[in-house]
Amino acid sequence: MSAWRVSRAGAPSAPGALLAPGDKSISHRAVMIAALARGESEIVNFLPGSDCLATVAALEQLGVRVARLARDRLLVRGAPRLLSPAEPLDCGNSGTAMRLLAGLIAGQNVAARLHGDSSLSRRPMRRVVEPLRRMGACIKALGRDGRPPLRIVPGEGLRGISFTPSVPSAQVKSAVLLAGLGARGETCVKEPAPTRDHTERMLPSFGCSFDRANGSICLTGRQPLRAARINVPGDFSSAAFLLLAGVIGPVEVRVDSVGVNPGRTGFLRMMERMGARFRVAASGKAGAEPTADLVAEPGPLQGARLPASLVPSAIDEMPAIFAAAACARGETVIEIEGASELRVKESDRIAVMAAGLKALGVACEETPDGASIRGGTVRGGEVDAHGDHRAAMAFSILAFAATSAVTVRGAELVDTSFPGFAEAARQLGLAVEPAG
Ligand code: S3P
Repeated sequence: MSAWRVSRAGAPSAPGALLAPGDKSISHRAVMIAALARGESEIVNFLPGSDCLATVAALEQLGVRVARLARDRLLVRGAPRLLSPAEPLDCGNSGTAMRLLAGLIAGQNVAARLHGDSSLSRRPMRRVVEPLRRMGACIKALGRDGRPPLRIVPGEGLRGISFTPSVPSAQVKSAVLLAGLGARGETCVKEPAPTRDHTERMLPSFGCSFDRANGSICLTGRQPLRAARINVPGDFSSAAFLLLAGVIGPVEVRVDSVGVNPGRTGFLRMMERMGARFRVAASGKAGAEPTADLVAEPGPLQGARLPASLVPSAIDEMPAIFAAAACARGETVIEIEGASELRVKESDRIAVMAAGLKALGVACEETPDGASIRGGTVRGGEVDAHGDHRAAMAFSILAFAATSAVTVRGAELVDTSFPGFAEAARQLGLAVEPAG
């Protein structure tokens, strides 16, 4: 269990342009799809965090050869047929690894068992198990109430289905589409609300075509995939914490080459509703993904209603939104609504963020699907991130606004998404020291 003591360090000076590490969602997908493609795919700016490394290790157990040209540069040689691994696949802390691999493995009709750490073992898997069973997969969640581990055994091969997930979830959509790659016939997914579309953007690079009609994505299975070169953009979800520092800290912060897929940037819209100001210094592309150099300007935040419609595109940034809300001026209230999915992330993020804010003297009331936060003075003190990487980063950046140091317990898993976060926080002007 590691803890940090985070405080403002000395006189503020503007950091140069920062870079966020490679996008986690895109890194997972790039290695997984490359694993099914004929030939050698190169993945550039891959995120070498523990979540994506769990995906790489699992694919290697399935017979895929992965050469590490550098920490963030991989060569993936696709396997014509996946092997059934002798040992269980350890997905660590990663819901994306477990749910997407479940789809991919079921589609390739091999046997595997997937498990994870204590946080992942509490997360719901029925949302992928049910559609995969409808496709003909022999998959079972062995834990209580549809929780991990997952067991997959070969069957008669999958067939395509038309499916509407009950929650807006890019993981569920992607698990079904990855299974569909190995299924007979057509697999269609109709989303209840748009979510990040990294899978759909990436498939054509590997030579896979699909149709969009009436809000559904439909792909024909068993298309031959060919190797590709995937350039992974900076992770918006990591950049969000640096941008938060630019808004609530003393100096503006610039983050370059950040992925700005519209399915990911709801954080900017939410922060703007609270009065934050951002500038786009430059726009670009990383493969099929749009990128931007983003600048966050320091300034006051005020009360706002953050409705359910903004949540899917800000789902991973909500801990940063809770932290921002704590800094809103004049005791105004931030209402977060329609965010019950936060309760089934790496931690119950509503409960963890509410408890942490209260420990720092901020009035925060939980609701079943959100919270009501009365901004104002943020005291120093001790908070528990409960091993949730994004809660740990949110509380750390909140130290900019706190009257004294913030001790963050349970910060050990920050590397899952942002290796080098502590160093980036130091560049921003925070002192980050180990705490006993
Ligand atoms: C992800 C989708 C989101 C997100 C997660 C990564 C993905 O999960 O919270 O961190 O890579 O598809 P849900 O699809 O469950 O909302």
